[in-house]
Parts: sequence; structure tokens; C-alpha cells
Amino acid sequence: MTPESDAVTLTLRPFRADDDAALISWLASPEELYLFSGPRLTWPLDGAQLDELRSDATFTTFTAELAGPAELAGPAVGHIELASTGQGRARIARVLVAPQSRGRGLGELLVRAVIAEAASRGIHSLTLFVLPSNAPAIALYEKLGFEHRGPSAELQGALLMGLELPG
Ligand SMILES: CC(C)(COP(=O)(O)OP(=O)(O)OC[C@H]1O[C@@H](n2cnc3c(N)ncnc32)[C@H](O)[C@@H]1OP(=O)(O)O)[C@@H](O)C(=O)NCCC(=O)NCCS
Repeated sequence: MTPESDAVTLTLRPFRADDDAALISWLASPEELYLFSGPRLTWPLDGAQLDELRSDATFTTFTAELAGPAELAGPAVGHIELASTGQGRARIARVLVAPQSRGRGLGELLVRAVIAEAASRGIHSLTLFVLPSNAPAIALYEKLGFEHRGPSAELQGALLMGLELPG
């Protein structure tokens, strides 16, 4: 983690309709949308799809904000979701850092924040799907201790990764 990211705190709060414009602006092409979301969201992304996602009880959707020195704190910088997959189990979904904020440790803070949120909800086992071409995301998840579990049986073409949380 860089000294810069050490200086800030990343917090998660519920994803709201007034976050839609920023989220949509962070996804510049159908390919970027697919890397982020898989088939659930379709190009062009719009508020109606995001309203539908927010109303889906399967997913808890979060917007990430920064607190810290004034020059680093500011508006939304990321998005992440948790979906229950059974008792004590959840999937991390739709991980995104604003393009202009990447490469300075925020993705790591974002995933660590949702792991902490999951632990606080009694989750002991986390999984996620990632496309094999998505080297930055795979490196991030490996750095945080996620293990490769082979091809996903649920999402064609994706890899399954998992992390067991300490009891
Ligand atoms: C994946 C993503 C969230 C990473 O966010 P980020 O803020 O740039 O990541 P960080 O700066 O916190 O980097 C943390 C680690 O991720 C890995 N990483 C990040 N960017 C990388 C890159 N371009 N190449 C290789 N590894 C990278 C590294 O392991 C890095 O640790 P290091 O700095 O010690 O090497 C961001 O690139 C993103 O939003 N991508 C588009 C959406 C997406 O693909 N989401 C994942 C869906 S499964």
C-alpha cells in the first residue's frame, strides 16, 4: 500500500440513486461494463438497471467514499457489493474503483472494507467471480489471500476465487 493510501480512510455506505451518474461515468465501454458486472448489467448502463439492482434483496450494494486530508477526501471513489450465498457465506460482486483513482491502493482498501463488513455480518466464507483476462483484479484478490478454485460453474468463462475468514 502506498503512503498516500495510508493517509485516507475508505468507508462504505449504501449505494444511492444520486451515485448513478458517477458510476455510469466510470464505465467507458461495453467491455469495461462486462469486466465489472458480467451479464447482469447491459450496455448502455442506465438508472433503471441500477434501480432494479438496488431493489434486488440478493445484493447489498455499497458506494465507497474517502475521509482524510482535505486534498484526498471527496465524493464517491468506488462501488462494491455483497450477495448472500447461504448460511455464513457470501459473494463479493461488482468491484470498481473510479478510473482516475486507480493505482494508489484504493482497490485494496475497498475489498478489505467489504471483507470487514462481511465478517461483521457473521460471514466466514467469501467467493467471487473474475474473468481470466482481468489481471489487475486477479492480482488484487491474490494479494488479499483469495485462492483460485477453478472455472466458475455458474458464470461461463469466469474463474471462481475464495477466501475463508478467520473464525
Ligand atoms: C481491479 C481494481 C478494483 C483495482 O483497483 P486499484 O485501486 O487500481 O488497485 P490498488 O491500487 O489498490 O492495487 C492493489 C493491488 O491490485 C493489483 N493491481 C492493481 N492494479 C494492477 C495492474 N494494473 N496490474 C497488475 N496488478 C494490479 C496489485 O496486486 C496491487 O498491489 P500492489 O500495488 O502492491 O502491486 C480496478 O482496476 C478496477 O476498478 N478495475 C475495473 C473493474 C474491475 O475489473 N473490477 C473487478 C471485477 S471482478
